[in-house]
Amino acid sequence: MKKIGILTSGGDCAGLNAVIRAVTLSAIQKYGWTVCGIHQGTHGLMRRPVDAVKLDLSFCTGNLLRQGGTVLGTTNKGDPFAYPLADGTVKDLSEEVIEGYRLLKLDALIGIGGDGSQDILRRLAQQGGMNLVAIPKTIDDDLSHTEHSIGFMTATNVATEALDRLQPTAASHDRVMILEVMGRDAGHIALASGIAGGADIILIPEIPYQMEKIAHKIKTLRQSGRNFALMVVSEAVGTESGEKSKIIDLEGRSRYGGISHYLANRVTELTGAETRFTVLGHVQRGGQPIFQDRVLASAFGTHAVDLIAQGKFDRMVAWQNRQVVDVPIQQAIAGYQAVDVNGSLVKTARALGICFGDENF
Ligand code: F6P
Repeated sequence: MKKIGILTSGGDCAGLNAVIRAVTLSAIQKYGWTVCGIHQGTHGLMRRPVDAVKLDLSFCTGNLLRQGGTVLGTTNKGDPFAYPLADGTVKDLSEEVIEGYRLLKLDALIGIGGDGSQDILRRLAQQGGMNLVAIPKTIDDDLSHTEHSIGFMTATNVATEALDRLQPTAASHDRVMILEVMGRDAGHIALASGIAGGADIILIPEIPYQMEKIAHKIKTLRQSGRNFALMVVSEAVGTESGEKSKIIDLEGRSRYGGISHYLANRVTELTGAETRFTVLGHVQRGGQPIFQDRVLASAFGTHAVDLIAQGKFDRMVAWQNRQVVDVPIQQAIAGYQAVDVNGSLVKTARALGICFGDENF
């Protein structure tokens, strides 16, 4: 009988609880193991007593499958290798995390995270001889070797719904509506939601744009009798001179946000159109997971448990060709899945007449 730990790390997203549920159900029902839920990622392993709770079958009943966020809590700051202390210095607390794993007497750890979290967890596992299996999650969908990560499809669905809501108000007021979506340095959410939500213009960081091409598209739409336009922009798109729009918080940490404001002003300058912009933000991360994320979470969670049963560690579960498979964590985090500018979705969008700001439509 084994005792396994599970933690969520990095930004939350829809579908994390469905993974926790799948791991718990499968570990207990299929293998008769004990499952330990660790709170707030590696922070829970650093605390004394270790901040963890036993997960049993009663924990998995009711709402867990449907619930947004992560019941275990998470964090996207506090790298244990350079942990920020109150006095402004940083300290290597990696041994404390490893000791936490030992204090819990774990046989293996399942870490649900994006590339940054997986990198940290892998280094901890190597240093401390921890048996690690990783599950990919990120609304950005930028992890390589898996067609999708947990959270992306729900986030894209939210962005699509936002376009559904913006279209009637755009048409009512003869406006150009700009929707700014997340995705960090990858344009997957913008591209997929733009196609699904009937956008006229999609701007993604992978395709450089020119304002004149965007203005041309809006004018052409007007000439064809259309009184509104919908534009989706990925948060990492820069200004025409390539400057990224960033927000710096009081701790000095920066994140993307605000490029839609700049674009709205430029569209008005060049076309005279009335514009409004919406920054969708963390709405994309919360809420119930849609069915695709629940299915993916269930397949990933149960496969991760099977890997532990087989003694296969240092691997990440992945989705490829309609199957759940597993790949070395190192391989998955070494690559990066940006939008393929020659891929099917970009071709589809162009064939629909969607403008990426790089050619005249
Ligand atoms: O990586 C996921 C993500 O939601 C990005 O799309 C976004 O840029 C970032 O996290 C926001 O981070 P935070 O939760 O720290 O605001």
